[in-house]
Amino acid sequence: MCWFRADLVAAAVVALAAATATASAAPAEAVLATSAATPSAPPAAATSAAHCSLSDLEKQLSGIEIYLPGSDQFTQYSARWSNVGAPIVNVTVLPATENDVVQIVSFANKCNIPFLAYNGVHGSITTLGRMSWGIDINLSLLSGITIAADGQTATIAGGTNSKVVVDTLWAAGKQTVTGTCECVSYMGPALGGGHGWLQGRHGLVADQWVSMNIVLANGTLTTIDANSDLWWAVRGAGHNFGIVTSVTVKIYPRVYTNWAIETITFTGDKVKAVYQAINDYLLRNGTQPVDVTNWSYWFNDPAVDPNGPVIQLYIIQEGVTAVDPTYTQPFHALGPVSVVPDNGTYLDLAGWVGITLASPPCQKAGLANPRFPIYLRSYNATAQQAVYSAFAAATNASSPFANSLFMFEGYPTEGVRAVDPDSSAYAFRTDNDLLIAPLIQYTPAGPDLDRQAEQLGNQLRNILLAGSGSAQLNTYVNYAYGDEQPQAWYGYDQWRLDRLKALKAKYDPHNRFGFYAPVV
Ligand SMILES: Cc1cc2nc3c(=O)[nH]c(=O)nc-3n(C[C@H](O)[C@H](O)[C@H](O)COP(=O)(O)OP(=O)(O)OC[C@H]3O[C@@H](n4cnc5c(N)ncnc54)[C@H](O)[C@@H]3O)c2cc1C
Ligand SMILES: *[C@@H]1O[C@H](CO)[C@@H](O)[C@H](O)[C@H]1NC(C)=O
Ligand SMILES: *[C@@H]1O[C@H](CO)[C@@H](O)[C@H](O)[C@H]1NC(C)=O
Ligand SMILES: *[C@@H]1O[C@H](CO)[C@@H](O)[C@H](O)[C@H]1NC(C)=O
Ligand SMILES: *[C@@H]1O[C@H](CO)[C@@H](O)[C@H](O)[C@H]1NC(C)=O
Ligand SMILES: *[C@@H]1O[C@H](CO)[C@@H](O)[C@H](O)[C@H]1NC(C)=O
Ligand SMILES: *[C@@H]1O[C@H](CO)[C@@H](O)[C@H](O)[C@H]1NC(C)=O
Ligand SMILES: *[C@@H]1O[C@H](CO)[C@@H](O)[C@H](O)[C@H]1NC(C)=O
Ligand SMILES: *[C@@H]1O[C@H](CO)[C@@H](O)[C@H](O)[C@H]1NC(C)=O
Repeated sequence: MCWFRADLVAAAVVALAAATATASAAPAEAVLATSAATPSAPPAAATSAAHCSLSDLEKQLSGIEIYLPGSDQFTQYSARWSNVGAPIVNVTVLPATENDVVQIVSFANKCNIPFLAYNGVHGSITTLGRMSWGIDINLSLLSGITIAADGQTATIAGGTNSKVVVDTLWAAGKQTVTGTCECVSYMGPALGGGHGWLQGRHGLVADQWVSMNIVLANGTLTTIDANSDLWWAVRGAGHNFGIVTSVTVKIYPRVYTNWAIETITFTGDKVKAVYQAINDYLLRNGTQPVDVTNWSYWFNDPAVDPNGPVIQLYIIQEGVTAVDPTYTQPFHALGPVSVVPDNGTYLDLAGWVGITLASPPCQKAGLANPRFPIYLRSYNATAQQAVYSAFAAATNASSPFANSLFMFEGYPTEGVRAVDPDSSAYAFRTDNDLLIAPLIQYTPAGPDLDRQAEQLGNQLRNILLAGSGSAQLNTYVNYAYGDEQPQAWYGYDQWRLDRLKALKAKYDPHNRFGFYAPVV
């Protein structure tokens, strides 16, 4: 099937052909731009270098959609979740098969055109902004999950949404570790390790992998598993090494149907006491119970607290219809504004913490959403109070950042720590009890405001770093802002970056996969 816009593709044929005739990136750029503006350019030029035309590419593909600027689909499909440091593309291509991905990558390399996989488009690291033109490879047609006959594994296509994985497995009485948010892809989080509700039991999302099909930088489709030297790298630094077209993962029988939550809301004056209590009763020196997750958010809700952001604590427990009072009583004793218990199933979790398909964080609303993450072992109540004051001041009602959200995610870590820390590029297995990040949300209004947001985000993160007693900033690459050093994404042991660089030299010497948290 061919759903591409014939008129626009004809123009692109001309543009790319002319560009290829000179075999250089710069003219290609200029001509591609012209093509979008003047779709009636003479087709004659196409004959000079037919091997580099979009229509030639199209002939090699099984069924494909190609959209250029000017089409509604291009506008809709190139929209992203965060609009600061976002990539710029000039054509959207939707491969329908693994071989289509091979053809697109080979074509792009031959024509010297940059390309980037677009999946759930929640990637927000500002290094993506280094992509100033090129091809958006929209993976949405590569969607689906197949459970193996023996029920031990499932194979997930590279563009499958997280919710599709969760729902399909649940219906079959199965589970695996996935990210928590319904609108994010399965693969996006996993390439950086991947945090999710079930990581306390089974480890990170990438820890579940058995094998994968991946299109390498040179356009070769290959299947890799633990016998490949690339296996270490794709689990934590995967964005740098290829386009994953499918992955086979371990799945588990669904043991617990029930889940329960208590949402406990506090006014800001309680900040110190709340985080001291989380340390004492929940984190417990890295011995957080495997069935318990605690998250908290800070955000402005003047109806509840007109003086500053509220503190909303979520204590979630697996296998029960009400959260064990051992975990909740210490917080009730602190005088919260409200306590709201709820219960349901695993499928309700995203709704409870506001990350379903319909929730605000899943919408592409034209906003800038940079995060400034830091991993911590436990809370420093004094630093929590200091960072609260700074956050409150900077996000007051008249601030452009008033809708910002401070996220404190305390997933259980037992399963993550059970995996040898040296066995994957994910570097922070023993230091990741808490994943903390201010998300500075604003309506983009130019570089000055971007700089203010960057300053604020780093100021807040630095307060937490100072309170940690360590000089070393550990971050989650998938939340990173983009101004961190690669060590903060991939670890401070010299051998880690050396190994990543050596693998880059072998598998991606031209750094085609160099836009998302680049290793080199
Ligand atoms: C609301 C929200 C909730 C989140 N929840 C979680 C969570 O629960 N757990 C967690 O770990 N993280 C979470 N994150 C962070 C998340 O891991 C990153 O934002 C991730 O980059 C999103 O992936 P995506 O596919 O949506 O984005 P995209 O922007 O489409 O992808 C990000 C990058 O990944 C690469 N990529 C994507 N697909 C492929 C592929 N098939 N092959 C090769 N490369 C590919 C590309 O380099 C791309 O630029 C969340 C983020 C948001 C905004
Ligand atoms: C790509 O798109 C950008 C933004 O629209 C534009 O500035 C640039 O000229 C385009 N490049 C090509 C090659 O079309
Ligand atoms: C990818 O294409 C699908 C249509 O198959 C569309 O719904 C989606 O918005 C596109 N995603 C991106 C990130 O362009
Ligand atoms: C936590 O660990 C520290 C250092 O190992 C120790 O001093 C402290 O007593 C422990 N606290 C609890 C509550 O176990
Ligand atoms: C809260 O999160 C921390 C960090 O992961 C963890 O140590 C603690 O056990 C959690 N508490 C609960 C009740 O989940
Ligand atoms: C919620 O708890 C009640 C009371 O224990 C129970 O009857 C009900 O089945 C639970 N709901 C779900 C969806 O588990
Ligand atoms: C409100 O926020 C703005 C922008 O962050 C800041 O400049 C201003 O000083 C803040 N006002 C108060 C009273 O804190
Ligand atoms: C907690 O943070 C404060 C403020 O940054 C700092 O002075 C103190 O040393 C920190 N405590 C620990 C145990 O690191
Ligand atoms: C592509 O790169 C891989 C890994 O370096 C290599 O094994 C393969 O032979 C290359 N393919 C081609 C066609 O060069």
